[in-house]
Amino acid sequence: LLLDVVLTGGGYLVGSIATAILVARALGLGDPRLSGSGNPGATNILRIGGRKAALLTLLGDLIKGVVPIVIARLLGLEDWALAAVALATFLGHLYPVFFGFRGGKGVATALGILLALLPVLGLSVLGLWILVFAVTRVSSMAALLAAIGAVPIVFAVPPETSMRVLIMVLVPLILWRHRSNIRRLLDGSESPFKKR
Ligand code: G3P
Repeated sequence: LLLDVVLTGGGYLVGSIATAILVARALGLGDPRLSGSGNPGATNILRIGGRKAALLTLLGDLIKGVVPIVIARLLGLEDWALAAVALATFLGHLYPVFFGFRGGKGVATALGILLALLPVLGLSVLGLWILVFAVTRVSSMAALLAAIGAVPIVFAVPPETSMRVLIMVLVPLILWRHRSNIRRLLDGSESPFKKR
């Protein structure tokens, strides 16, 4: 149990490393929470810093989801203990202890977590995100539909109760963090990215 607690705490600390804020700082872009959508995530870094910075942010936030799970697995954690590490990592991204508890919306980190925990689910959700983004060019729309899509998918793949419970916690949190996006999508003011 001590190991579970240490790794869960470690997951929270790793999750708290806000890649977007660090990348923006390193590139002299200022705090991403003060420009664009105000979200410290790859999408907003794309708006304010361009593709390279966004890719770096995406990779950082994704890897952040993967690493704690891989370490926890190597140390023998399974099932509910892994789900706890995953949730802690995710919550670190949303409420980072190093950055005044004002973090991101959790999409890239959740994807990293799912890819590490249950690759079939992670890849399906990634496919869904790409598909919706290709059609709509709206990142939040892609995130919302991919998050909602994760629910039927996790109930369709071989049963693992802890994964289903994890998804039922992560998805509402992702929707909640996108509440301003949902409002904009509904009133038609959420702007798409231009086709390159
Ligand atoms: O992953 C966050 C994305 O879904 C929306 O980001 O900056 O458009 O609010 P943003």
